[in-house]
Amino acid sequence: MDRRLTEQDAAALAQAALAHVRSGQVVGLGSGQAATAFVRALGREVKAGLEVRAVPTSEAVAGLAGRLGIPLVSLDEAPVIDVTLDGADEVDPHLDLIKGYGGALVREKVVAAASRRLVILVGREKLVPVLGSRGTLPVEVVPFAAGFCRRRFAALGCAPVLRSTGPTPVLSDNGNLIFDCAVGPIADPAGLDLTLRRIPGVVGTGLFVGLAQAVLVVEDGRATTLTRPGSQAHPGELGG
Ligand code: A5P
Repeated sequence: MDRRLTEQDAAALAQAALAHVRSGQVVGLGSGQAATAFVRALGREVKAGLEVRAVPTSEAVAGLAGRLGIPLVSLDEAPVIDVTLDGADEVDPHLDLIKGYGGALVREKVVAAASRRLVILVGREKLVPVLGSRGTLPVEVVPFAAGFCRRRFAALGCAPVLRSTGPTPVLSDNGNLIFDCAVGPIADPAGLDLTLRRIPGVVGTGLFVGLAQAVLVVEDGRATTLTRPGSQAHPGELGG
């Protein structure tokens, strides 16, 4: 279980995240505690006059954004998202990620892929030298293929645990199951992602490779920015 962000850290992350948003933009709203802190801050800005439209990555964040008065649109209404702010469970030095401990991995990856920029918000403890360091990779699977996928994951050496609450399997917002696959340090994240996605019945994995442009890292109330080499730290720095 992840340490909860302190109020001070959540506020620092949310404030730093707001600097990536401009009036008139379409904003992707991530899921989880860091993303929620940002959504609350965005709600305050919208109340104060900021004009944005937002695409949510989960029913939970859609509900929150709706209550805060943030106008929501679908990906069909806004096919290109200017910037998405989301959390992560692991961040490696290339800014590749593991996500999905909160179960929203598939919608999060769709929204990330539709975004010009993906900015990730994390506490320092999420920085790892190699993805897989925390030992778990979430993979979403259609219920029909549960047993089949479980056996394929096991054959690959990724011992799968079906995510459940007591005896009841957890369903994603897409009505699918999530397997938390045991992994060690992953030598080739893109390769493992592809191998897993080739298994019929797999909807998506929590490996986000080459998607994030920037990571805002908070510690003791101070947020700093990591940038993917060749990417801009901030939209304000983009020429043209
Ligand atoms: C949701 O499925 C996840 O991908 C979250 O973005 C991730 O688990 C980080 O969440 P926290 O900010 O709650 O740690």
